Amino acid sequence: MSINTLEYAKQLDKQDPLAQMRNNFGIPKQANGEDEYYFTGNSLGLQPKLAREYVIELLDAWQQRGVKGHFEGDHPWLPYHEFLTEQSAELVGALPEEVVMMNSLTANLHLMMVSFYQPKGKRTKILIEDHAFPSDHYAVESQLKHHHQDVDSNMLLWRPPSGEELLNHEDLYQLIEQHGDEIAMILLPGVQYYTGQVLDMKTITEKAHAKGIIVGFDLAHATGNLVMELHDWQVDFACWCSYKYLNSGAGSVAGCFVHQKHVTNTELNRFSGWWGHDKSTRFQMENNFKAIPTAEGWQLSNPPVLSLAAIRGSLDTIKLAGGIKTLREKSLKLSQYMMDLITQELTKSVRIITPTADHERGCQLSLMITVDGLDGKAMFNALEENGVTTDWREPNVIRVAPVPLYNSFEDVYHFVRILKECLA
Ligand SMILES: Cc1ncc(COP(=O)(O)O)c(C=O)c1O
Repeated sequence: MSINTLEYAKQLDKQDPLAQMRNNFGIPKQANGEDEYYFTGNSLGLQPKLAREYVIELLDAWQQRGVKGHFEGDHPWLPYHEFLTEQSAELVGALPEEVVMMNSLTANLHLMMVSFYQPKGKRTKILIEDHAFPSDHYAVESQLKHHHQDVDSNMLLWRPPSGEELLNHEDLYQLIEQHGDEIAMILLPGVQYYTGQVLDMKTITEKAHAKGIIVGFDLAHATGNLVMELHDWQVDFACWCSYKYLNSGAGSVAGCFVHQKHVTNTELNRFSGWWGHDKSTRFQMENNFKAIPTAEGWQLSNPPVLSLAAIRGSLDTIKLAGGIKTLREKSLKLSQYMMDLITQELTKSVRIITPTADHERGCQLSLMITVDGLDGKAMFNALEENGVTTDWREPNVIRVAPVPLYNSFEDVYHFVRILKECLA
């Protein structure tokens, strides 16, 4: 049977053990009442029904208990973030003591850099990628300024080879080799937001550590998408948001990883707040800060529990699906099916810039329209008008992310069919 038939896609769905997971999500509707073809989990994941349920439970508890909600019920608010630790740690391959859900992504990047960017002597540079997500770029730039370091000479940029979109790891290793003793810290994404390229976090960390460089990752596009082993890879720190593949709602609380080897190091500089203080004496209201000897020691404030409730719902949904390894298995099949269909049907008009090898891609495929005189943005708009939600990233890419929790092979089939119709 040809892969370009609805029957074939339906067959794949029948064989998919996760096919029913979609029923655990709210799926946005088109104007005609049918489900949207939603491919934007790389930007904002869909709402798990459990997230809604747990948020409503929490609203009820607030209504019924007031301040006593901090201590009462099955999920009291005082330790609420702790209910998320074990499952969050599993997602990134960490020990529970290495992970905390707190603040937002960029705020956590700053907190981590306060601790891990310590320019000294000749070692003052921060290495990032040339096309880093702007927030990361700004955060790094401002950290350099905070330390009175000249930005131009201390921000080392890893660029793709001229005329190419993808980063070449060999170029990075050469930069590390060449400037190793001048680089204080490397901050890179696990998955590059524009191209969908997955970086080799393990090898990067090894090479950097061999030169005495601290390594941190922005896992916004990696958590809930890839299988990672942050602890075993010896990554120093990492941060991620929870609204993309963690489906916890716009601006929801973010995740932070600090390697075990650092969590008890009281020498590390940090910005502190009472929620990071020793739990047994926190409410004695004294002014002797004693950091919790885990990643929790970086917390500042008591967290927004409504958001944590949504995250708990999302994590329980991922658990229901069998965890990240099961999701990744399906994800590879879904994106492979999309690549195969595009290659077969649209090879003259669409170029996939995301690498094709399994270990170099996550859910997201980044597409460029290559028809002369046809604007990619117009094609993105045309998809939208036809019930397909993707996202557009300047200057030239349509990002499409089939997500194993709620996308079907049939969704993928329809995406390619509609794209082909729009192109025609
Ligand atoms: C790779 C990456 N880094 C940082 C951010 C900024 O996230 P936040 O607004 O949660 O700080 C985003 C947002 O989409 C992102 O994709």
